[in-house]
Amino acid sequence: MTEQTLPSGKTAIVTGASSGIGLAIARRFLAQGWNVVGNARSDARLKEAATQFGAGDRFAGVAGDIADPRVAQALVEQAVSRFGGVDALVNNAGIFLPKPFIEFTPEEIEQQIATNVKGTIFASQAAARHMIGRGAGAIVNITASIALQPRSNVPAFMAVLLKGGLNAATRALALELAPLGVRVNAVAPGIIDSPMHSPESHGFLKTLQPTGRLGTVDEVADAVIYLVGAGFTSGVVLPVDGAAAAGNF
Ligand SMILES: NC(=O)c1ccc[n+]([C@@H]2O[C@H](COP(=O)([O-])OP(=O)(O)OC[C@H]3O[C@@H](n4cnc5c(N)ncnc54)[C@H](OP(=O)(O)O)[C@@H]3O)[C@@H](O)[C@H]2O)c1
Repeated sequence: MTEQTLPSGKTAIVTGASSGIGLAIARRFLAQGWNVVGNARSDARLKEAATQFGAGDRFAGVAGDIADPRVAQALVEQAVSRFGGVDALVNNAGIFLPKPFIEFTPEEIEQQIATNVKGTIFASQAAARHMIGRGAGAIVNITASIALQPRSNVPAFMAVLLKGGLNAATRALALELAPLGVRVNAVAPGIIDSPMHSPESHGFLKTLQPTGRLGTVDEVADAVIYLVGAGFTSGVVLPVDGAAAAGNF
């Protein structure tokens, strides 16, 4: 496959950049000559990621809970002061907790709303204010294919509610920001081989996708890079899920 090439020297903010999908997205931007401001709660894991990237000054880590609006603001400020601006924001930080609906505790519900929804809102507001000022920018939300096609054998009410809401909100925000030069899209991954899933669960998880395998973090990064570079594409929710959301199988 020929990898899509983005113009180098630009800057992306990636939340949840210390693990799994976010780590792969950050690595891909850096490989394309971009600067990256990466976020996660654990400073130690961000530093470990920075060492892995080996990108020197082109990677800056900002540790903190993305549900805190001050963290979102700090990400944009870091991108502007270190790299001169923000060209793309990838709202990737998220948690997934599959369990029967009646068993969700108030704390679990609050934590999922905080990370998956408030985090995306605050980071998008901070980035959009800056992007609107420049008349250009791309936001990509990482949602989930299960919100497009819920499954009877994976009880995931909160993920379907929150990621499904983000899928719809991606389209609404794309319409609102289109005249201002900012594009908003989403990638909806199926089940991806990341630290989110224990290796023991892979056998069952493979049966949930028509392709009979898990996706890779690099396949999700491919879609993100495509959407960041696709200048006339906005308001799209792109499943990367081995056809899982295409219908019943
Ligand atoms: N893997 C899948 O099968 C799959 C499928 C569909 C959708 N997704 C979505 O893809 C995204 C990434 O998932 P993944 O599989 O890469 O998960 P992962 O390996 O568990 O990584 C999650 C990342 O998010 C960070 N994070 C979590 N809570 C945070 C918070 N409150 N503030 C800032 N950073 C936070 C984590 O670092 P810290 O713990 O240090 O904060 C970590 O860097 C999520 O939005 C997830 O819902 C994944």
